[in-house]
Amino acid sequence: MMNSMFSTKSLTKILNEAPARGAGFKRTLNRLNLTNIGIGAIIGAGIFVLTGQIAAMYAGPAIVISFLISGLACALVALCYAEFASMIPVDGSAYTYGYATFGELFAWIIGWNLVAEYLFSAATVAVGWSGYVISFLKDCGIFIPAKFTAATGTVLYNIPDLGWQSLSGLSKETLATIDVHSLQYVTATMNLPAMFIVAVLTILLVIGISESANFNGLMVLIKVAAIILFVGIGFSFVHASNWHPFIPENSGEWGHYGISGILRGAAVVIIAYIGFDAVSTTAQEAENPQRDIPWASLVSLGISTILYILMAIVLTGLVSYTQLNVADPIAVGVNAMGHGMFWFRPIIKIAAIAGLTSIILVMILGLPRIFFSMSKDGLLPTFFSKMHKRFKTPYIGTVLTGIAAIILAGIFPINVLGEMVSICTLMVFVIVCIGIIVLRRKRPDLPRPFRTPWVPFIPALGALICLIQMFSLPFDTWLRMIAWLVMGFAVYFSYGIFHSVLLNDKNE
Ligand code: ALA
Repeated sequence: MMNSMFSTKSLTKILNEAPARGAGFKRTLNRLNLTNIGIGAIIGAGIFVLTGQIAAMYAGPAIVISFLISGLACALVALCYAEFASMIPVDGSAYTYGYATFGELFAWIIGWNLVAEYLFSAATVAVGWSGYVISFLKDCGIFIPAKFTAATGTVLYNIPDLGWQSLSGLSKETLATIDVHSLQYVTATMNLPAMFIVAVLTILLVIGISESANFNGLMVLIKVAAIILFVGIGFSFVHASNWHPFIPENSGEWGHYGISGILRGAAVVIIAYIGFDAVSTTAQEAENPQRDIPWASLVSLGISTILYILMAIVLTGLVSYTQLNVADPIAVGVNAMGHGMFWFRPIIKIAAIAGLTSIILVMILGLPRIFFSMSKDGLLPTFFSKMHKRFKTPYIGTVLTGIAAIILAGIFPINVLGEMVSICTLMVFVIVCIGIIVLRRKRPDLPRPFRTPWVPFIPALGALICLIQMFSLPFDTWLRMIAWLVMGFAVYFSYGIFHSVLLNDKNE
C-alpha cells in the first residue's frame, strides 16, 4: 500500500473519466466569465485591507517592491498552471495535476492545502468585508455593538475620534497621545458581520452558478472602477515626503522593515494575487477550457498586478505608512485627500464591500469543486460529489464550506487567517512548478495546447521565489500549517487510503 500511495493516476484515465465526472455540471462559462471569475477572486482583501497592514507592519512604502516580487512569482506559477490546465482540463485544479504527476499522497497534500487556501481566504476576506461594512455603517450613524465586531478575545478600546479599536492597530504616535487606562474597553465575542456575509453567499451558491457568474461580473466592474478612480484622483493629492524613507530601516527583528520586511511583505501579499488559480477549478463548467482557462488566468493576473502596483504607490503616497494598520486603509487614503473629497468616501467603501463580496463568493464556489474531485477519487465521502437535483450544484460541499468559513471568520483575526492562506498556497505553487518539470521528463509525448516557456528555467525560478516567500513568513504560521497538514494526514490515513478508487483498482 505504501508504494501505491505514490503511484500516479494515468492521464489518459483522467481525461477519459472527465466527461462522466462532470456530467452534473452545466458548461456555461465563457472567456469573459472566466476572466471575471479570476479578477473576482484576485482583487479583494489583499488590496483593500492587507496592503495597509503590510505597509505599516513590514515593508513601509516598499510594499510596492513586495507587490512586484509576489506578482512575478505568481506570473511564473500562472504559466505553469496554464500548461497543466490546457493539458488536463478537468475539475480539481492543482490537486488533479498532482495526482497525474506525483501520485496520490502528494495529490492529497495539495488538495488539503487547497482546502486551506479557499477556506481561509473566504474567512480572511469576510473579516475584511466586515471592517469596511462596520466603517460604512458608522458613517451612516449605525453602530454595531463592539463586542460583535472582531475576532474572539480581541480587546477593543473606545478611542476618542477613532471609535472602537484594538491597540495593535495604532501607530506609535497615536498611542503616545492616549491614556489607555482611562479608556472604556470590551473583549470581543465574535465577528458577526463576517459570519453573516458568508452565510448569505453560501445560500446564493447553492442556488446556482450561472446566476452567481452574472452577480460576480457586476461586482468585478464596480471594484475595478473604484480602484481606477482612487488611483486617478489620488495621484494629485500625493505628498512625495510620505515615500521617504522608501525602505524604512529594519527594526532589528527579521521581517520588520528593511529587506527582510520587503520579503515578508511579498510573502503575505501573495494572498492578494490568489485567485488566478480559481479559474482552473471551473474546468468542467467552461465552454472551452483548453483555450480559455490559460487565457483567463494570465489576463486576470496581469490586470490585477498593474492595478495593485498603482494602488500601493498612491496609497503610501497619500498617507504615512505608519497610519495604515487599520481595517479600512483605502478609506484612510481618501480622508487624506481632504474635505473636498469626502463624497468619495462612501463610494470607495461601497466598492470595497462589493469587491470583497465577489471574492468570498468565488472562494466558496471553488472549494466544493475541489471536494467534488477528491470525493470522486474516493479520498472524501461520496456526499461531497452529490449534485442538487434542481440547482445542479454540489450543495453539500457548499454548505459545509460555508459553515466552516462562518466559524473561522467569526473567531480569528485577519492576519492569522491571511498568513495561513499565504503559506498553504505557496506550498501548492511550489509543487505545481516542480510538477511541470517532472511531467515534461516523464511524459514529453502528451499534447500540450499551452506550453510554459523556457522549461525548466521558469518553473524552477517560480518554485524558488515561492520557497523564499514561505521562509519569510512568521514561525507561528509554519506551526499552524504543520498542524493543518497533520489534520490532513489524519483524514487521509483514516478514510482516504481505505476508499481510494486508485488504490482499490490496483489492489484488485
Ligand atoms: N486574492 C484575494 C484577496 O486579495 C484572496 O482577497
